[in-house]
Amino acid sequence: MTAAPFGQWMAGVQAEVEGALANFLPQADAVPHKLHEAMRYTVLGGGKRVRPLLVYASGALFDADPAALARAACALEIIHAYSLVHDDMPCMDDDDLRRGKPTVHVAWDEATALLVGDALQAQAFEVLAGTACGQGALPASRLVDMLRLLAGAAGSGGMCGGQAIDLDSVGLSLKLEQLERMHQLKTGALLRASVLLGALCGKELTAPELEALGAYSKAVGLAFQVVDDILDATADSATLGKTAGKDAADNKPTYVSILGLEQSKALAGQLRREAHDALASFGEQALRLRELADLIVQRKA
Ligand code: IPE
Ligand code: IPE
Ligand code: MG
Ligand code: MG
Ligand code: MG
Repeated sequence: MTAAPFGQWMAGVQAEVEGALANFLPQADAVPHKLHEAMRYTVLGGGKRVRPLLVYASGALFDADPAALARAACALEIIHAYSLVHDDMPCMDDDDLRRGKPTVHVAWDEATALLVGDALQAQAFEVLAGTACGQGALPASRLVDMLRLLAGAAGSGGMCGGQAIDLDSVGLSLKLEQLERMHQLKTGALLRASVLLGALCGKELTAPELEALGAYSKAVGLAFQVVDDILDATADSATLGKTAGKDAADNKPTYVSILGLEQSKALAGQLRREAHDALASFGEQALRLRELADLIVQRKA
C-alpha cells in the first residue's frame, strides 16, 4: 500500500491533536474564567505542532496505542506552549507577538502569563497520567517511565535548564560546544522526549532501536533550533508569527551570530543527513520521521 502524501498525513494528525487539546484543556466557562480562557488562547489554533507530529511518527513504528499517542502528543504540546508563554515574558525575551497573536502578558497581564504557564505545566502531566494502564493497554511501569521522561525533558536538566543558560549568555560569545549544549537543552530535550514518548506508547523497544531513535532525535533537536536561529535572522515577522530579528537585537548568542548564516545552513543540512542515517535500520517504516526531519530543516516559519 502506498503511504498518503506527507501533507495529508500531517493535516490529519494536526486536526486530531487540535480536537484532543480542545478536549483536554479546561473549558473557558469554568472558574477561574480568565485563566482558562488564557490557557485555551495559548494552546489552541496556532503553532506547527511539530512535537505532536514527532510523537505520532515515532509511534507508528511501534504499533502505538492511539489513545496513548494522543495523550503523549498533547502533553508535549502543552509543555511547549507553556514554555513559549514564559519565554515571551518581559523577564525573559520580552516579545509581544506569538503565533501571529499578541503574547499572553500583552493580551492579559504578567501575572496571568505566569499562571498560564504554571497551570499548563501541571495540565500536561495530568493529561499524560490519564493514559490507560493494565490489560490490553500500557503497563503501569511504562507510564511511570513516560512521566519521568517528560519531567526530565521539561526541567532543569532539559528545557528550563537551557532557558537558564540562554538568559545567562546574553552578550557572551559562547564556544560552539556551549552553544550546542544550550540548544540541545532548551529545544532538543522536548523534541527528543516527543520521539521517545511516541515509541513508548507502543510495543517494547530493543536497545538498538532506542539508540537509533536517540541519534535521530539528537540531530533533529539541534537542527530545529539552528533553523529557528536562521529564521530569526532571515524571515519577517508576518511569516514567522513572532518578532523577527529579536536575537541580534537582544544580543543573544545563536548559530548565526557564532557560525554565520552560510555555515549555519550547512550545519542544518548536515544534521538532516545525520537524522536520515540514524533511521536506516527502520527502512520504509520510518518514512514519516524522515519527512519530519526534512520539514524541520526546510521550513520557512
Ligand atoms: C518555537 O517553537 C520555540 C523553539 C523551541 C525554537 P516552534 O517553532 O515549534 O513554535 P510553534 O509551536 O510552531 O509556534
Ligand atoms: C525558546 O527559544 C525555546 C523555548 C524553550 C521556548 P527562542 O527564544 O529562540 O524561541 P522563539 O524564537 O522566541 O520562538
Ligand atoms: Mg528565548
Ligand atoms: Mg524567544
Ligand atoms: Mg528563536
